[in-house]
Amino acid sequence: PDPGWTIDTDIIVIGSGVAGLVTALRARTAGRVLLVTKALLDDGSTRWAQGGIAAALHPDDSPEEHLRDTLTAGVDLCDDEAVRVLVTEGPDAVRELIELGAEFDRNEDGQVALTREGGHLKRRIAHAGGDATGAEVSRALLAKLKDSGIEVIEHALVLDLLMEQGRVAGVTLHVMGEGRRDGVGAVRARAVILATGGLGQVFQATTNPEVSTGDGVALALRAGAAVADLEFVQFHPTVMWLGPDAKGRQPLISEAVRGEGAYLINERGDRFMAGRHPLADLAPRDVVAKAIMTMMRETGASCAYLDGRNLGPRTWANRFPTILAACEEHGIDPVNEPIPVLPAAHYASGGVRTDLWGRTSVPGLYACGEVACTGVHGANRLASNSLLEGLVFGRRIAEALSADLAGEAPRTTGEAPRAAEEAPRAAEEAPRAAGEPALLDPSVRAEVQQIMTSYAGVLRNGPGLDRAARELAALADRTTDEPCTEAWEATNLHGVASLIVAAARRREETRGSHWREDFPDADRTWRGHLVSTLAADGTI
Ligand code: SIN
Repeated sequence: PDPGWTIDTDIIVIGSGVAGLVTALRARTAGRVLLVTKALLDDGSTRWAQGGIAAALHPDDSPEEHLRDTLTAGVDLCDDEAVRVLVTEGPDAVRELIELGAEFDRNEDGQVALTREGGHLKRRIAHAGGDATGAEVSRALLAKLKDSGIEVIEHALVLDLLMEQGRVAGVTLHVMGEGRRDGVGAVRARAVILATGGLGQVFQATTNPEVSTGDGVALALRAGAAVADLEFVQFHPTVMWLGPDAKGRQPLISEAVRGEGAYLINERGDRFMAGRHPLADLAPRDVVAKAIMTMMRETGASCAYLDGRNLGPRTWANRFPTILAACEEHGIDPVNEPIPVLPAAHYASGGVRTDLWGRTSVPGLYACGEVACTGVHGANRLASNSLLEGLVFGRRIAEALSADLAGEAPRTTGEAPRAAEEAPRAAEEAPRAAGEPALLDPSVRAEVQQIMTSYAGVLRNGPGLDRAARELAALADRTTDEPCTEAWEATNLHGVASLIVAAARRREETRGSHWREDFPDADRTWRGHLVSTLAADGTI
């Protein structure tokens, strides 16, 4: 659609979770910043984060140990340099967040209280409000945003990236009900930062909010950027089970509950994680999710149970007030009974490929947070490394922007950009929209979710993935002439789902959160990233 209005800025940040907010606040030194967000400022995933932020804050811990645990969880697929950046800059980034006003829970001696989660050999998870870490991080950053002078447009769906002479030159937006900026408009800018979060809505049951529809990956792909590791969708092992028909955002039961002593049992009360992994209930997430699915298969059960009765009423009330309230809302009393749980889609470990400074393979386009694939997560993200990634790489992108927009030679500290460089596009007179895909009917959303849940969830196999690919391809004809948010989201979900399935079909091995029944072992020859770009004929 033709833009009805045009505005200019230097930097557009898309998304208002931790990654977008940190990048926007920090990037002010590099130029004028406009922050756009699809719904309200705090509608994204950040505010739902429970467990916390992992960082080697305790004197008995070290970035080196955090690095080791991250690499182990990532099953030989993390980029060591990226992880080193994450864990060495992490503690400082958390301290900065505290200085900015985020209130973390403290021990009696006044030190930041630290807990454990799956895959961590040390207590290194800082938390806030007991189990409401994301909400506190979001609150502190939004308070800062208020006085920052950064212009914000809410209810603004980014339709596409504008391209000019091989560079990203802005975005087209569809803004709903925002007065003078209503309807479709264009924002011209020198840099665009994708901080659009995840894609959990590709599946029927997810911990992600409604807005997590993979928009950033879809946009980047249409603009020619490289995306990677999309097959590694992490399923959180302990999501409250609300029955076989549960759909949409499901209540998360933080791993920190197991970190404080709860454990998994089957219907008979047996602790099935014992003996499966040296860390038992605190094994990395993919291991626990697989163990739950295996137990269910063996016993015919519909779910597993998280037994936290040993925590006692005080710990439940003080340490896990959010989870306690969610349990009570669903008629479960976790102080006196085990909570029914099942794995659900939680986190995209892959995304838009970046270098160590958040630069994608398309000049002028950056990615931060869950939408990005910086290489820190590999085949399975370590618990509580996600808020940390947003903090650390948001700071880095702001630094890169200062250099890039000042026309300096790109900094390549650490590795040079790893994503495949795009050949520059032919010079053009005016910016043009990057993709212009056929817009799919909103009804496609539910069908994508059903297909992905049936054939591309925790457990995958060749015939199932082939069927998913066929059924997704058949949906591509269901187009609409009526542009609306729901149609754009359905289009993005369909594109991202097709990408996940294509990558999952290609990776003929089991690694991290990609579990192929027909290729049950990890294969050394697959110790690399599957990087995709969109070909001129529209194929991936
Ligand atoms: C949790 O609290 O278990 C989720 C934390 C995360 O996804 O890292």
